[in-house]
Amino acid sequence: MDPIVELCKKHNVTLIEDAAESLGTTYKGKYTGTFGDYGIFSFNGNKIITTSGGGMLVSNNEERIAKVRFWSTQSRDKARHYQHSELGFNYRMSNVVAGIGRGQLKVLDQRVAKKKYIFEFYKRELGELDGIEFMPIKDWNEPNYWLSCITLSGRVKPIDIMEVLEKENIESRPIWKPMHMQPVFEGYDFIGEGVSEKIFESGVCLPSDTKMTDEDLNRVCQIIKSLWK
Ligand SMILES: Cc1ncc(COP(=O)(O)O)c(C=O)c1O
Repeated sequence: MDPIVELCKKHNVTLIEDAAESLGTTYKGKYTGTFGDYGIFSFNGNKIITTSGGGMLVSNNEERIAKVRFWSTQSRDKARHYQHSELGFNYRMSNVVAGIGRGQLKVLDQRVAKKKYIFEFYKRELGELDGIEFMPIKDWNEPNYWLSCITLSGRVKPIDIMEVLEKENIESRPIWKPMHMQPVFEGYDFIGEGVSEKIFESGVCLPSDTKMTDEDLNRVCQIIKSLWK
């Protein structure tokens, strides 16, 4: 984050940090989502904590947050009747959903601990297989381990792992397709040196649900290992 923050400061660019998946992660001891002028988090059903859908915008700028709150609640002017001087949106979080979110916040630490356990389990069982690499963990970051992902550089390809797991009715997926490779953005310019393409082509997201038992994890590992025999 340091170089990005520095670059934005230098050129006076507003920094909006997409921390959708990373709630609970720290970079040099500071939580992700708190480095920029704004941070966003997703509470979609697949995230580390969920409200079934929706998310959260955070900022230290109270004035701007008040404005966003205004827009997200249909831009209602201070009037007895419904009056709108600006276009608004119906993006507010309902009280029921907010209640679920408050409950979920209490289990965030437990979720991170279980996700870390899952990552370490896979790394211990699969880390020595030829050509497998796990997400690098540096001494300056503590991830929330939301999703355990591997990249492959040997004989076994991502599709081999996805297919062998699928035969056992176990879902795994490629790592996300980069935006500039999406058909909808075909023909648009992009800046990059092929890192995201390489990760997309060589990566697999392993089953990482916090409800997984040791037995489940072990089953996934044994099936994957069978490809190296
Ligand atoms: C990095 C990133 N940004 C944005 C989103 C979108 O979040 P939502 O599904 O809440 O719209 C996701 C969802 O997975 C994400 O991983």
